[in-house]
Amino acid sequence: MSTISIERLNVPGPKAQALLARDKKVVSHAYGRVADFVMDHGRGSEVFDVDGNRFIDFVAGIAVNSTGHSHPQVVQAIQAQAEQFLHISSDYYHEAWVALSEKLASIAPFDEDAGVFLGNSGTEAVEAAIKLAHYHTGRDRFIGFFGGFHGRTLGSLAFTASKAVQREGFTTIPSVTHIPYPNIYRPILAAAPEDEDAGDTVVNFLENVVFKSVAPPEDIAGILVEPIQGEGGYIVPPASFFPRLREVCDQYGILLIVDEVQTGVARTGKWWAIEHWGVEPDIVCTAKGIASGVPLGGIIAKQSVMSWPAGAHGNTYGGNPLACVAALATLDVLENGGMENAATQGDYMMARLKEMAARHPSMGDVRGKGLMLGVEFVSNKDYRTPAPELRNRIVQTAFEHGLLIMGCGHSAMRIIPPLVIGPDLINEGLGIFEYAVTLAEAEFGL
Ligand SMILES: Cc1ncc(COP(=O)(O)O)c(C=O)c1O
Repeated sequence: MSTISIERLNVPGPKAQALLARDKKVVSHAYGRVADFVMDHGRGSEVFDVDGNRFIDFVAGIAVNSTGHSHPQVVQAIQAQAEQFLHISSDYYHEAWVALSEKLASIAPFDEDAGVFLGNSGTEAVEAAIKLAHYHTGRDRFIGFFGGFHGRTLGSLAFTASKAVQREGFTTIPSVTHIPYPNIYRPILAAAPEDEDAGDTVVNFLENVVFKSVAPPEDIAGILVEPIQGEGGYIVPPASFFPRLREVCDQYGILLIVDEVQTGVARTGKWWAIEHWGVEPDIVCTAKGIASGVPLGGIIAKQSVMSWPAGAHGNTYGGNPLACVAALATLDVLENGGMENAATQGDYMMARLKEMAARHPSMGDVRGKGLMLGVEFVSNKDYRTPAPELRNRIVQTAFEHGLLIMGCGHSAMRIIPPLVIGPDLINEGLGIFEYAVTLAEAEFGL
């Protein structure tokens, strides 16, 4: 147990409750909420609710507030731009749009020159990637992964396969064949019980079974994959996976599209998570952390792949000036310390979590890279029995004691604080986290 004093907050407080009641009447019930947190303001890695309660933020708006809440450099850039102009439309030109595209091209995870297309969100980035791959290859089928999450519009939804409710009742386009993601802790496909080569196993299955039975490789435009599976449970693939996928793509003229919407922009201690495997993708999808919370998404593609002509794709808000200046300031903050901090504090947190897992029967696995960390909760470590209710109880107890944290996958927890977080808040947050784990274990008889 931590020595930090941990107090039970009165949440949701009266002002929060009043707002929840109003929300219920008018905001679409399609949104799934994690906790009754009603935000008033945030600073750095702390957030405050409308009743004055303080929380440590281990969620960062789902990996969006990369520079923390209201970083002064980002706020200043937005304020200055707002006084100049708010919008001109993608039919014209402006400096921040070009400068951001130049910056993104310079940090692209491939040697070839890059082209950049900007939109407003992760799902739009994925839609752009699907359309570009389709246009460039002249092929109309794709490979996706079970457990993958790529967004909710109909194109990206065709790939999304992390929870059935996300697809239930909806049709999808284009044609996507899903294969297992290599998960060493919970393999869907395993050559042996502890399949160290799970990456090879999955790619062999793609080549030897999928390509030969249901999805001929000559029809496949692209393989869309997350470098670390996010919503699916923070699953880090083994070393063999990406090099083998690249080989298969090269052999059959298939584009390798990496969805770095959650993993990208320094979250894992490198600009792009795919860099951990030394593999060059053809198209990168980005959003979330890129502009510290101002809506922005886009793709970075090899120039040889970005072969579409004027008018083939577009949008009103592409290159929105507020989003572009926020992204430029964000990338500057990350380049000047944020990315390094993600790697350093990520290693520290990983070590602390592993140490914690050794004394807690419910913490089955700790994994991740940089400040993208996951903990798998189980009711029996030997059998790796998933414990989703226990996980959910930890989320709620942590909230009630001043820590925002969120689940992912069936029974995992994600830890994704702002990339600028320091050791004091990490220690305080982990203290609350362990307190919540201890209470949940007692309640569930572990
Ligand atoms: C990997 C990945 N791709 C795409 C998306 C969709 O992004 P957005 O919600 O901005 O449309 C998400 C959102 O969680 C994501 O994690």
